[in-house]
Amino acid sequence: MPTFVAMKWTFASSASTGHVTAVVKPTSSEFSADLATLIEARAERGVKGWLHQVAGAEQFVRVLTSKGDAAEMAHSGRKAGAELAGLLSKNKISNLSLEAGDATFHVAEGLALAAYRYTRLLGKKAKEAWTLDSVEVVGLSARDAKRLEVLMAAVTEARDLINTPVLDLTAEDLAARAEELGQIYGFKVTVLNQAKIESLKMGGLLGVNKGSVDPATFSILEYKPEKAVNSAPYVLVGKGVVYDTGGLSLKPSNFMDTMKCDMSGAAAVIGTLCAVAGQGLPVHVIGLIPATDNRPGGNAITPGDVITISDGTTVEVLNTDAEGRLILADALHYAKKYKPQLVIDLATLTGAAARAIGPNATVAMGNASREVWEQLQTSAANTHERLVEFPFWDEYNDLLKSEIADLKNIGGAEAGAITAGKFLEHFTDYPYVHLDIAGPAFLDSPWGYYGKGGTGVGVRLLTDFLTHVAS
Ligand code: BES
Ligand code: ZN
Ligand code: ZN
Repeated sequence: MPTFVAMKWTFASSASTGHVTAVVKPTSSEFSADLATLIEARAERGVKGWLHQVAGAEQFVRVLTSKGDAAEMAHSGRKAGAELAGLLSKNKISNLSLEAGDATFHVAEGLALAAYRYTRLLGKKAKEAWTLDSVEVVGLSARDAKRLEVLMAAVTEARDLINTPVLDLTAEDLAARAEELGQIYGFKVTVLNQAKIESLKMGGLLGVNKGSVDPATFSILEYKPEKAVNSAPYVLVGKGVVYDTGGLSLKPSNFMDTMKCDMSGAAAVIGTLCAVAGQGLPVHVIGLIPATDNRPGGNAITPGDVITISDGTTVEVLNTDAEGRLILADALHYAKKYKPQLVIDLATLTGAAARAIGPNATVAMGNASREVWEQLQTSAANTHERLVEFPFWDEYNDLLKSEIADLKNIGGAEAGAITAGKFLEHFTDYPYVHLDIAGPAFLDSPWGYYGKGGTGVGVRLLTDFLTHVAS
């Protein structure tokens, strides 16, 4: 079990000088030349938000964001922050003071998101690695500075978990890290071990785990503040496949090599609990994380096997690579006991979702009320963790009919993201939203304010969503 120490930024608030400027120090002549180039390049591209250099002993970088609605301004501020991160990293500047008027929060956010590096496994190269250590955010209230600090730490925790290879992050390691984070941020974590999972007859999770030498875990995270606005909890369910080889339906190696990311849904749930508890939001939230690796070893389930989910549904497994829905089925059934207000699951569930829209958005579907969808879409715009709602018509259920069992675990050649969602809906009896994050969860090349690797998608979205339902 590795020691986890996440990269941490301190966002310290200080009084506003009344200028809409970002003050960056220390400075060097090379830095100001870079800055000038950046400003020119941005102007040529007609970028709406821009940076501007003001001569002086210190370098004043002025950040103006585009006119537009609040969500567009926020996005543009984050992009400016990400460009600033590029400059800081190039010039190895680790501490800075930033003031950008109304945009300060989002410029600092973009800066932190873009400054993230997964450095834990750098050996000899660790010494050369640049880190952003502290950002003084001028003119931001102490409360907002704290809110930003907790949010960025939560996203970082999620990204670190995703980027950690399975050698260092088995299902038990994932559960242990959730426990540690619960201690730090203030939420309760209960980990059900293999024996307990067996006694609960979680045949989906146990079935997927059969080809593994490591035990499965089922973690229950709970944040229940005294003054919660909701009497029925919000339940978040995260797919925790710590590595997906495909099982006996083995993936070709070029599809397998990034599959340490198959617990990104779990990471998003853990990160959201960190943010919500760390910010002390008055909302009762539960996180459920079924976790295992999916391997073809020893007694692995075979295509053609029939397994029984904890609710009694039998499932004909025709492709062992469609494993996420099997472990989520047990978790969604487990969620019923909370009589939840709403259940949202996050999962790197299908290649079909990633193929449909790429890394630009999450594929969303479900049967929750229009009011819930509107709030989710508002949060998606606020955070730029965009959602595209797919249809959820019952006709898609026809594709999941099995000759010998209640369901089969794959649909046809078409609508793969939706048939996966309909499979999951079978195990629900509450308002439900399914978020397939296979596209944006893990990047093969930089995108927006993110470098390669895990993005922590879902943490900012759901924290924003829960902030709104809590107010
Ligand atoms: N973990 C994968 C989905 C995935 C693909 C996530 C690409 C991230 C990037 C999932 O378990 C899977 O393999 N799904 C299969 C389902 C199919 C067999 C019905 C897929 O999408 O090919
Ligand atoms: Zn799979
Ligand atoms: Zn998977």
